[in-house]
Amino acid sequence: MKPLKQVSNMAITGSGSLAISLCVFVISAAFLPKVEGQNLATDNISVIEGEMATISCRVKNNDDSVIQLLNPNRQTIYFKDVRPLKDSRFQLVNFTDNELRVSLSNVSLSDEGRYVCQLYTDPPQEAYADITVLVPPGSPIIESREEVVSEGNETELTCTAIGSKPAASIRWMKGEEELTGDAAVEETYDRMFTVTSRVRFSVTKEDDGVPVDCIIDHPAAKDLLAQRHLEVLYKPEVKIVVTYPEGLTREGDNLDLTCIAEGKPHPHQINWLRVDEEVPPHAVVTGSDLYIENLNKSYNGTYRCVASNAVGEAYDDYILYVYDSRAGEGAPQKIDHAVIGGVVAVVMFAILCALIVLGRYFARHKVFFCYEWTKGADDAADADTAIINAEGGHNNTDEKKEYYI
Ligand SMILES: *[C@@H]1O[C@H](CO)[C@@H](O)[C@H](O)[C@H]1NC(C)=O
Ligand SMILES: *[C@@H]1O[C@H](CO)[C@@H](O)[C@H](O)[C@H]1NC(C)=O
Ligand SMILES: *[C@@H]1O[C@H](CO)[C@@H](O)[C@H](O)[C@H]1NC(C)=O
Ligand SMILES: *[C@@H]1O[C@H](CO)[C@@H](O)[C@H](O)[C@H]1NC(C)=O
Repeated sequence: MKPLKQVSNMAITGSGSLAISLCVFVISAAFLPKVEGQNLATDNISVIEGEMATISCRVKNNDDSVIQLLNPNRQTIYFKDVRPLKDSRFQLVNFTDNELRVSLSNVSLSDEGRYVCQLYTDPPQEAYADITVLVPPGSPIIESREEVVSEGNETELTCTAIGSKPAASIRWMKGEEELTGDAAVEETYDRMFTVTSRVRFSVTKEDDGVPVDCIIDHPAAKDLLAQRHLEVLYKPEVKIVVTYPEGLTREGDNLDLTCIAEGKPHPHQINWLRVDEEVPPHAVVTGSDLYIENLNKSYNGTYRCVASNAVGEAYDDYILYVYDSRAGEGAPQKIDHAVIGGVVAVVMFAILCALIVLGRYFARHKVFFCYEWTKGADDAADADTAIINAEGGHNNTDEKKEYYI
């Protein structure tokens, strides 16, 4: 009695052994194509077109039966270690009692099919190795419906992976974000597949320059992708910067405002205006700068810089509030001057004192030098008297003078 687990051998063992099994298990006979003792096995193979496939026919407990390998047309490729078939792409890799291993190089699509390992038992056994040839797609082609998109609008990208087997799958990434595409698979006459995937999404200003990747997943391809950088047009962003003054705007001061406007395309127009009122008549606009001399409280109000490009326009406001000029004469600056004046005075005084002290010291030092060299000054009370002593009491005054100078 053979246990039922032998069913699993069905796929790899030939149907030629059916006769025996039939007598034993009438019902399950079809699932037990097994011969006692020896068993023959092989594996299905997936191989990339142009690469090498290895077909291995293995026998457990071989009793010297002959093994041969047949191609899908049932022509003998190898009979033991002999190759009757002329195709030299088939080469013997290993031949032992337990294995016939054959390589097939430069596999092409026409090599696909069911290869047969055959064991010359009685009845003969067979095991099948299906060779599947994988063909990687060509480089993906990414296309976008429009070259540039304006912010807020929808764009559409299409990616095509041509001529693969099996069909490739396509993923989309916009920067770090995964997008979901709609794929359509088309089978060509030569059993190849062309896959087209389409994504649509609305773009924002931040999408400008962001790469969109079309990534191909296929068993025969690695790191296959196409990339396209988004080009997004967006309306200006406007910002007013106070170039002058740094602190409060006071009556009589000058005011210099700079309008910084960025957009894509670059803003073609920048205008200054005063909300609900006239801009002071002597205000000067130079490029993106607004310059107002001699501020007057009547200039209080909202000043607006408006920038526009092909996409749209935007503005920024600056609220002018003219402070009393007298407030400007207030404490802070006065204190500053007083402090600086005080510090300068103290420093000057300190330097003066230092100079005086140093002057005196050096004067004495020089004298002391003399005193050392004038022998007659031994009993002098201090440097000054030593000089007097030296001058008066000794005749070697030439020597002393030399040092005194
Ligand atoms: C052939 O196969 C046998 C057993 O599987 C192994 O011992 C031997 O090294 C193989 N020879 C070659 C040339 O691969
Ligand atoms: C591989 O096979 C193809 C045809 O299937 C042939 O054109 C090509 O020259 C072969 N390449 C090698 C290296 O044998
Ligand atoms: C401010 O402007 C008003 C008229 O608009 C004028 O009468 C006044 O003298 C000006 N003040 C100063 C400080 O210029
Ligand atoms: C402008 O603002 C100042 C505050 O410094 C205020 O005193 C003055 O009345 C304002 N003038 C106008 C015309 O609003």
